[in-house]
Amino acid sequence: MAQIVGLLATSHVPLIGKAIGQGLQQDPYWRPFFDGYAVHECLRRVRPDVAVVFYNDHGLNFFLDKMPAFAVGAAEQYLNADEGWGLPAFKPFPGDPRLSWHLIESLAAAEFDVTTCQEMLVDHAFAIPMALMWPGGGPWPVKTVPISINTVQHPLPSAARCFKLGQAVGRALEIYDENVKVLIVGSGGLSHQLDGTRAGFINKEFDLMCMEKLVHEPQALTRYSNAQLVELAGSQGVELLMWLAARGAMPSSVFTVHSHYHIPISNTAAGLLVLENAA
Ligand code: DHB
Ligand code: FE
Repeated sequence: MAQIVGLLATSHVPLIGKAIGQGLQQDPYWRPFFDGYAVHECLRRVRPDVAVVFYNDHGLNFFLDKMPAFAVGAAEQYLNADEGWGLPAFKPFPGDPRLSWHLIESLAAAEFDVTTCQEMLVDHAFAIPMALMWPGGGPWPVKTVPISINTVQHPLPSAARCFKLGQAVGRALEIYDENVKVLIVGSGGLSHQLDGTRAGFINKEFDLMCMEKLVHEPQALTRYSNAQLVELAGSQGVELLMWLAARGAMPSSVFTVHSHYHIPISNTAAGLLVLENAA
């Protein structure tokens, strides 16, 4: 049985990749953000073997012509590429095809007919949380399973559906026949809007409410429609769906290890929440 050790939910602003590439962590703009990213001691203690990463592709691996609601990587490795932000590419991420196929089989049995990707480029939304969790440029210490959720081409899967997808992943991990420690990652949000008349929109009150509810009452957040999420969190704030899917994969009983909220990084309210399995 896989052991779900914890959840890390985080924003994934591309500019963070530039700051890392240029070593700007102590720069006055960046310092509060990087100082708030105090997760490394916890990761060293927990030592996950695999990260299952819920993230949203931004037009790199999927585009408007073909857009799966849910896609699961099943590759030996995942190459990072830049879909237009001018970011340096991170090292390839090791895959875990055996776990990927177990998740895909279990999801199909649970009536989630996901797109399977035996080749998959991963964008900043996948790479930046990894680089924040394991800085320094050494070999990635975990294998990975990317799970991409459409936030680009409406209609998007609903908050309730994303939470259920996460629950199905959690149940699949419970019956996995290998004794591996799994970290669940949710990459996206919090409130932000990149274009249109509301560009720069941030909703601190809503974000903090979501961060609070996500811990002990995540189902409360599944009542929002995506239209409501766009209104409350901005058109890109729907990336909250990643946090919901990731929380669905965790056991119901959790405790908060760390949380941080910083406005703004680029156009985004940068949120970070680390939960551990209380069982
Ligand atoms: C920004 C935030 C994102 O989530 C993203 O995918 C791209 C850009 C930003 O705030 O600049
Ligand atoms: Fe994004």
